[in-house]
Amino acid sequence: MTDFLRLAEDIAREAGDMLLAKRPTMSGEIETKSSPTDVVTTLDKASEELIRERILAARPGDRILGEEGGEEPGESDVRWIVDPIDGTVNFLYGLPDWAVSIAVEVNGQVVAGVVNVPQRGEVYNAALGEGARLGAGRLRCNTGVPLAQALVSTGFGYAQAQRAVQGEVVAKVLPRVRDIRRGGSCAVDLCSVAAGRVDAYYERGVNQWDFAAAGLIATESGARLGGLRGEPVSPAFALCAAPGLFEELHDLLARLDPERAA
Ligand code: IPD
Ligand code: CA
Ligand code: CA
Repeated sequence: MTDFLRLAEDIAREAGDMLLAKRPTMSGEIETKSSPTDVVTTLDKASEELIRERILAARPGDRILGEEGGEEPGESDVRWIVDPIDGTVNFLYGLPDWAVSIAVEVNGQVVAGVVNVPQRGEVYNAALGEGARLGAGRLRCNTGVPLAQALVSTGFGYAQAQRAVQGEVVAKVLPRVRDIRRGGSCAVDLCSVAAGRVDAYYERGVNQWDFAAAGLIATESGARLGGLRGEPVSPAFALCAAPGLFEELHDLLARLDPERAA
């Protein structure tokens, strides 16, 4: 295990333990962010603060991009990309699919990623070129699955107009695949591709902190990750599946123009 991975995992475990211990009930303190459905608890911020403190204590000078605190400037080639809770709505409702996601990027390339899913007791990790793991077990995504047999997970953004388009697109995908899942955490969805719990994942509007760590876990499990029409994965579009299924799902989605304005 690389030093980066070990540090990222220690920090993700500490944040996860803190969140599990302090998880509020629905009546707890809730603040709204970009829209009323984008619930952000004070624990999001507490988790990110803890993660930032631990990173800077171990590696002063590294840059950090976190969902809650934005970009920490610096000269370093190393940038940490953090979602302190991915799957905030699940977290609030007591559903198990929420995660602490920490990635380490060196010169613009993600080299290590950890996704801790505390309520499932699962810690996923990957290092570039060294494979992906769930605990001690090596992960391999499902291969050879045709589109018609594929279990596809997806997600919906918080903005209403974007959701309307996402609803139209998923209505056209659903009759063409085995079934659809909406798990509620981009990071967990990508880890589920890596673990073979779903065959594919796509979503518009996810951010770097959502997919940086889990994207490496998925690609190190053998999956392909990208956007539409040869673009790299980005907030515009994220698609992940084993080669073969990736192209089949890509071609269906590209025809549906999921990036269009509402
Ligand atoms: C959200 C989750 C969700 C996805 C949204 C994300 P958050 O992140 O990953 O699955 O559909 O697009 O914003 O707000 O829970 O950190
Ligand atoms: Ca997120
Ligand atoms: Ca978040």
